Amino acid sequence: MENVKVLVEALPYIRDFHGSTMVIKFGGHAMVNEEIMEKTIKDILLLYFVGIKPVVVHGGGPEISEKMEKFGLQPKFVDGLRITDEDTLEVVQMVLDGKINSKIVSTFIKNGGKAVGISAKDGLLVVAKKKTIRKKMGDKEVELDLGYVGESEIVNPEILEILVENSFIPVISPIAADREGRVFNLNADVVAGHIAGALRAKKLIMLTDVPGLLSEPDNPESLISRIKLSELEKMVDRGTIQGGMIPKVESVIIAMKSGVEKAHIIDGSKEHSILIELFTKKGIGTMVEH
Ligand SMILES: Nc1ncnc2c1ncn2[C@@H]1O[C@H](COP(=O)(O)OP(=O)(O)O)[C@@H](O)[C@H]1O
Ligand SMILES: [Mg+2]
Repeated sequence: MENVKVLVEALPYIRDFHGSTMVIKFGGHAMVNEEIMEKTIKDILLLYFVGIKPVVVHGGGPEISEKMEKFGLQPKFVDGLRITDEDTLEVVQMVLDGKINSKIVSTFIKNGGKAVGISAKDGLLVVAKKKTIRKKMGDKEVELDLGYVGESEIVNPEILEILVENSFIPVISPIAADREGRVFNLNADVVAGHIAGALRAKKLIMLTDVPGLLSEPDNPESLISRIKLSELEKMVDRGTIQGGMIPKVESVIIAMKSGVEKAHIIDGSKEHSILIELFTKKGIGTMVEH
């Protein structure tokens, strides 16, 4: 009886979500443990089998840094973005396309899901351009060169529409190319945000390694359960968002301004966090709404 109750309670959510697209960003930090990764993939498959169309975008931060150190390279970040020289780019491609993407796809397949691994350059999904950032140094503003770090210039969701309409689950690595075929490393959060926007997804779900958006970055007890988009934008201006949370929030804002209904930032290392967030009233992480 208890089991049946759970199903019945989920019915309004299932009805609401059926047939809708959800973009899920699989965080590097939420993937370091294979067991957790497989559990998350099973949860995504549950969504898939109740009629949701998942589109997965993954990062690979911690593993890239680990491999870089093995090759004697030192990982460096500016505002959560990895400075990427030629050697780093090679490691990034090896880890993201060669290892993580392949691992996610095979784990989906093992559990009965028709996953297809692509990178953001495939089918011109994301056309990239070199990203430059300006940063205040004392009272001067300087332009920083991050190397082969790109940003998305255009998103063509056609390849995803073809896959999703035919019941495939796209698994996307954040490596894109510009029109000359030059390859760039993009932040996976931002790729997820642009893709969610271009697909007019119902939801953008960001899995990470903290409970959600925190009002005090160092205090895990300071979780914000619900926040309006306008409030989130104010938080950015106040500087409460730092490091790896910057591209996540930026991506949430991009996606929601392009018509995504809701965004969720949740702890991917907690068992069943996606299901708790989507199918219970209370949720588990941060929900951003219009
Ligand atoms: N206001 C904030 N709320 C939550 N996390 C924050 C905040 N400001 C900075 N962070 C940091 O952002 C990190 C998540 O980003 P990141 O390290 O890039 O992980 P991921 O692999 O999920 O992209 C958290 O571990 C946390 O240290
Ligand atoms: Mg990150």
